[in-house]
Amino acid sequence: MAFRAPTQRAVAAFARKATATPVKTTATTSIRTLSSQATAAASTTSTSSSLSQSAQDAIAREASLPNPDPAEDSASAAMVRDHARYMLATYARPSPVFVRGEGSHLWDLENRKYLDFTSGIAVNGLGHCDPGVARILADQSTTLMHASNLYYNPWTGALSKLLVEKTRETGGMHDAATVFVCNSGSEANEAAIKFARKVGKLRGGDEGGKHEIVSFQGSFHGRTMGSLSATPNPKYQKPFSPMLPGFKYGTYNDVSALNELVTESTCGVIIEPIQGEGGVNVATDEFLTALAKRCREVGAVLIYDEIQCGMSRTGTFWAHSHLPAEAHPDVITTAKALGNGFPIGAAVINGTVSEAMMVGDHGTTFGGNPLACRLAHYTVSRLSDEGLQSEVLAKEKLFRAKFEELQARYPELVSEIRGKGLILGLQLTQDPTPIVQAARERGLLVITCGTNTLRFVPPLTITEEEIAQGLAVLEQAIEATR
Ligand SMILES: Cc1ncc(COP(=O)(O)O)c(C=O)c1O
Repeated sequence: MAFRAPTQRAVAAFARKATATPVKTTATTSIRTLSSQATAAASTTSTSSSLSQSAQDAIAREASLPNPDPAEDSASAAMVRDHARYMLATYARPSPVFVRGEGSHLWDLENRKYLDFTSGIAVNGLGHCDPGVARILADQSTTLMHASNLYYNPWTGALSKLLVEKTRETGGMHDAATVFVCNSGSEANEAAIKFARKVGKLRGGDEGGKHEIVSFQGSFHGRTMGSLSATPNPKYQKPFSPMLPGFKYGTYNDVSALNELVTESTCGVIIEPIQGEGGVNVATDEFLTALAKRCREVGAVLIYDEIQCGMSRTGTFWAHSHLPAEAHPDVITTAKALGNGFPIGAAVINGTVSEAMMVGDHGTTFGGNPLACRLAHYTVSRLSDEGLQSEVLAKEKLFRAKFEELQARYPELVSEIRGKGLILGLQLTQDPTPIVQAARERGLLVITCGTNTLRFVPPLTITEEEIAQGLAVLEQAIEATR
């Protein structure tokens, strides 16, 4: 639980209540009004109150924040106390409880508004509760939600066709041929790993001589046993070891090591063109080209995991779309933004790999259901728009300009700016957690990744004004934590 020490919070909450009684307006006004009232209360008490100086400081600090994290006696805290004990504790969460979203904003249970630079970890590309998405969901939910993969429906095929067409048209994998639709990123990677193993069987023989899967340090491919085995992070792997046999790890962007790493025993290589969780690390064009060449030499299936960086986040439909055909993969995996918040994943596959897969080789109950597929069809149509993609690149410039300013102002804190389009990382020299909290308490949501990296993955539809507002808050948050 992320609630802070009750003593401080209780004092601050008391001060808020004591001064809040006559104020009953919107969240923003009431918080602002409270700020001045509580600050006044705090300064009065400094001469006459028996409150300790630290309690007075806590009151003044909280009163000065537009969105202080909900206090112990808040409705949010009560709800979390009631619910959290039933939720398997796999995440450490801060105290706000989000109840509503619209565009680039979220609102919490206390009706406080937050600008969202996270978009649900690169999921809500079209922003929260996009009206078009909502309309499609509502309409399809009263038409047909699920009939199983034992039968055809109009939308699995329509989405598959659109993904293949858009992939080819927009400069991505030139020989894209078919699509396998599933429910999440991990599942898409799991499928891709299985496809590579099947190709390895066909090319290397049944004895299993060609079964190795190569992935790279810093990557994140998911939490299922196959995708986890391709994710060489001891934090994620160690509790569940041993991993599946046959996984090998290389160094990202190390061209010179490729010949030894990818061999005749390799059936597949999986790589993120931009590592998201690993710290917004961008693969060089030279590395991806050399990797693709090596894969072809040894007959290994090349999988680009574009689950976080794809779907126009880099300003092109796929993050690899700008690469020449010889650097294209054999499989692209996608999820996250594909459903704009509705669970769906997919693997886009070229003709050679498609031919290796037979009826019955792989399957899923929910994957490809008409509800998710119609929604993803709509999302892909919108996200593949060239106008939106050039706006993404224009918006990147706004982020970068501010980041450069911050780097000049805090050279001891900001060591590097990384990324492309609207998947950007600010490498810090120290733990960003205090900045994340300070930003949240000022109404801005940001997340971290890698080692001490602040990650920026806002909705692609975020406005320039919202970017400016958010970056101003980020600057204040950094300032406040110096
Ligand atoms: C690059 C990448 N691959 C795979 C995954 C796993 O996706 P999911 O959480 O939908 O299983 C993620 C999730 O963060 C990811 O960023």
